[in-house]
Amino acid sequence: PAEPTPPDSYALRGCIVSFDAEDDTPTVFDDGAVVVSRGRIAAVGPAALLDAHPGIETLDHRGRLILPGFIDTHAHYVQTQVIGSYGKQLLDWLGGYVFPEEARAADPAHAATLAGFFLDELLRNGTTSVCAYSSVHAAAADALFAAAASRGMRLISGKTMMDRNAPPELCDTAQTGAAESVALLSRWHGQGRAGYAITPRFAITSTPAQLEASAALVRAHPECWVQTHLSENHAEIATACGLYPEARDYTDIYDRHGLLTERTLLGHCIHLSDRELDVIARRRSVAVFCPTSNLFLGSGLFDLARMRAAGVRLSLATDIGGGTDYSMLRTAAEAYKILQLQGQSWPARAAFRLMTRGNAEALGLAGEIGRIAPGLAADLVVLDPRATPAMAHRADRPMRDLDETLFMLMTMGDDRAVAETIVGGRRVARH
Ligand code: GUN
Ligand code: FE
Repeated sequence: PAEPTPPDSYALRGCIVSFDAEDDTPTVFDDGAVVVSRGRIAAVGPAALLDAHPGIETLDHRGRLILPGFIDTHAHYVQTQVIGSYGKQLLDWLGGYVFPEEARAADPAHAATLAGFFLDELLRNGTTSVCAYSSVHAAAADALFAAAASRGMRLISGKTMMDRNAPPELCDTAQTGAAESVALLSRWHGQGRAGYAITPRFAITSTPAQLEASAALVRAHPECWVQTHLSENHAEIATACGLYPEARDYTDIYDRHGLLTERTLLGHCIHLSDRELDVIARRRSVAVFCPTSNLFLGSGLFDLARMRAAGVRLSLATDIGGGTDYSMLRTAAEAYKILQLQGQSWPARAAFRLMTRGNAEALGLAGEIGRIAPGLAADLVVLDPRATPAMAHRADRPMRDLDETLFMLMTMGDDRAVAETIVGGRRVARH
C-alpha cells in the first residue's frame, strides 16, 4: 500500500523535551519550536527559529510539552477484547481467555477491526510506534501491517508461531509457520515503515522443530526482529524446562536454538538466574519490562537495577492484553511502583527517556524514532499537564522544575493528558 502523502511544512510551538544526551539529561526548549516537513523533523530549537520560516502554519501548544511519540515494544493486538479478564495467572489465563479469543482472528474482517482499533487507541494515547504480536493467522498479520501502513505508523510485527500446547485451530506446524512467516516478511519487511518480527510465541507452544525452523529464519533474515516470551511465571518456567530437559534453563532453550540476537525482544524476564542474565547481556538481546501485565497476572517484580548491573538491554511495554492499559504514561507509573517495592528509584527523566529514545535504541531504530532531531520521523506527542481537574489543581501549585512536571504527568496522566499525536507528520489524534 502507498504511504500517505505528508502535508506541507508546519511548526509546533511549546516546551520541547527530547533525550539527546547519552545520559538521562533531556534537551529542553521551554519556549521552543519544531518544524515538520514531508513527514520528518526539519528543525528544532528555541521559538525564535520560526523567524526563519515566515508565515509557516504554527500549532500553538504553549503551556504543553512536546515529546517524541511513545514507543511500545511488546503488545498483542488480538487481545484487545480480553483486557481485564478476571482472576487467573498466566497459563490459565492463556488457555481460558486468550487462546479462544485469538481463534476469532481467523476471520480477516474481524482482524481488520481489531487492528484498526488497536492502532487508533495507541495513537490516542500518544504511542506512535509499536512492536506487536499478531495471532497465528497470516491474514491477521496482514491486517495489522495494512492498518499501520494506512496510518503511516512505525510497526514491527509478525505472525505468532505455535505448533503445540494450544488448540488445534491455533496451531501451525514448524514447516507451515516458517513458510507463512517468509511470505509475510517478503511482503512487509522494509515496506514503508514496517518491519517483520519472527515470532515463536514461547517455548511451551513451540516444538524443538519449530524453534529450529525459527532459527533458520533468523539466519536467513538477519534484518528481521525476533520476539518471544521468557521467564514470566513460575509454572511457565517449570513447564518450559520440562519440555526441553536438555536445556540448562529457560534462557538456554532459546540460546541453544540461536534465537538470542541483538534484535531479539524477550517479554517479561522476571525470574532469571545470574547465568541467564549474563547470556542475555552477552547476546545483546532486550529484556522487555511489562509492568501492568506483571501486576495484573501476578507474575512478579521486574528487577531493573539487577538487569542494568548485568548489562542487559531494556525496554518498556504495555503487553496489551495481559497488560491493562494502552497508555505508556500509565505503564511508566506502574513500573515506578514496581521499582518502589524493590527500593529502586526511577526518576521521571529515566522513565520518559525509556519510553522514547530508550525503546528506540532497544529496537535498533534510534536513527528514525525516539528523539526530536532533524532528519528523524515527525512522530510527536503533545502532553497537557493540566488535562484533568485533578492535574490542573495539582499544577496550580507551581512545579519546581521540569522533572516534577514530568513525574506528575506519568503519575496522574493517561490518554486525557495527550493533547495531540502526530505520526509521520500527520495530525492523527487530538483532544
Ligand atoms: N506468554 C506466552 N503468550 C503470552 C501472552 O499472550 N501474554 C503474556 N503476558 N504472556 C505470554
Ligand atoms: Fe506478551
